[in-house]
Amino acid sequence: MTDAHVWLSMFHDAQSPARGLRERVCATVRQAIRVGSLPLGARLPASRVLAQDLSVSRVTVEAAYTQLEAEGYLVRRTGQGSFVAIDLASGNGQQHQSSTTNAGLTEQVALSQRGQRTVGTGGCQEPMRLQAFAAGSPDLRAFPNALWRQLTNQQLRQGSDALMRYGDPQGLPALREAIAHYLAQSRAVRCSADQVLVLTSSQQALQLIAHMLIDAGDVVWMEDPGYRGARAAFASAGANIVAMPVDSEGMVCNFEQPTPRLIYLTPSHQYPTGHTLSLARRNALLDYAQRVGAWIVEDDYDSEFIYDKRPTPSMQGLDRHDRVVYVGTFSKALFPSLRLAYTVLPHALVAPLVTARTVYDGHVAQLPQAVTAEFMLRGHFSAHLRLMRQLYRSRRDVLLDCLAEKLPWAQALNPAGGLQLGVALPKGREVQLTRQAAALGIATPSLGALYQTAGQVDGWLLGFAALQPEEIKAAVDALAHITP
Ligand SMILES: Cc1ncc(COP(=O)(O)O)c(C=O)c1O
Repeated sequence: MTDAHVWLSMFHDAQSPARGLRERVCATVRQAIRVGSLPLGARLPASRVLAQDLSVSRVTVEAAYTQLEAEGYLVRRTGQGSFVAIDLASGNGQQHQSSTTNAGLTEQVALSQRGQRTVGTGGCQEPMRLQAFAAGSPDLRAFPNALWRQLTNQQLRQGSDALMRYGDPQGLPALREAIAHYLAQSRAVRCSADQVLVLTSSQQALQLIAHMLIDAGDVVWMEDPGYRGARAAFASAGANIVAMPVDSEGMVCNFEQPTPRLIYLTPSHQYPTGHTLSLARRNALLDYAQRVGAWIVEDDYDSEFIYDKRPTPSMQGLDRHDRVVYVGTFSKALFPSLRLAYTVLPHALVAPLVTARTVYDGHVAQLPQAVTAEFMLRGHFSAHLRLMRQLYRSRRDVLLDCLAEKLPWAQALNPAGGLQLGVALPKGREVQLTRQAAALGIATPSLGALYQTAGQVDGWLLGFAALQPEEIKAAVDALAHITP
């Protein structure tokens, strides 16, 4: 029997009507480790290869591998692969020392169903270090550190002990005012500071929304391809996620699909395709949401960085029925570790979500809120955004030129904005090319992995904003040596 046959027969053994595909892949790998066919240190097949062997999507295998890593069965090394991290066959249950594996195995821990679903998402950690072409990071070397330090010192000097006490769970009023003003001016959001809820991240916003609005089995519509963080938040709430395809006008609205309780989308700059949701579809979705009583979650994660046209105003501003929950973040506009984001809530959701916030973790630290409010009120935020927009646009242009000149096999998809650029690769070559890039120390985040259903493209999502032009050129020069 070939390896593929062995995997397939174990996969069928793991079959049980109660299990989803990802759990069956996990069960297959755990079983292989337990019976010793995958000994300590053995390398697992690449996710795409196993996906082909088992006839499941690569996303499913990726999610399974990530879950198995969280459970301590595997360790994944960038550019090298996934390896067995535990010796179960010899009966000693010894685990490899690794900073990325957890101490215990989930099977030995009685997690709640919600807990199991949460671990089952595989998590959604963002890259922690600067590397060409890791996605999603702004340029921290261009951040006005001296000014930030000055504003921080000023806040500390003013010596108000109010900043050291417990704060308003909805967020510092001065920051909420600044956010409401900024959103009205730049995103045509219609709100007052009373509707703004300050949080640590878009991810926390999505988790809070999922927790408060979704029961297990509720239908959630999501764009496909789409944002994994959102998928993880809704999956951990037990949502029945319906993947809606995306075309050049954004999410395709198929109103024949099961009626949703919530629709999550990135209308201004679809993640990851970069398309903008057309006005006709915005209106159709808003009417539909009102008719069926669904919530719309508008994730406006990087609309500050649209380069060649005016950004499309928010969907929230078009909503006449108070159905849209608007989500924004400072992770890209300022810096990710600031851990500051916000939602603009429909009036009916303010009190319940603020109460829930007190049950979560109280509120965001007050000092960074106060500094951010000052940064905005004094006009530094708009100035910083203007500068970064110019800087990132010029870097995007450098990347486009380098790709056209050196990598004719990587086709830029939709370069209108954002901190990363989607590129299409020759069909069936993504895994091979990614492996070769990783061997050169270059991260090439997968575009295909963001698809939930078939029809996925082979491609990369190349983060460029944090890289200086010579770093972009050097990385593309290096990639030019690999074989397409
Ligand atoms: C669509 C989308 N929403 C939200 C975020 C992250 O925001 P935060 O760091 O505030 O969770 C990202 C990060 O890449 C994103 O791509």
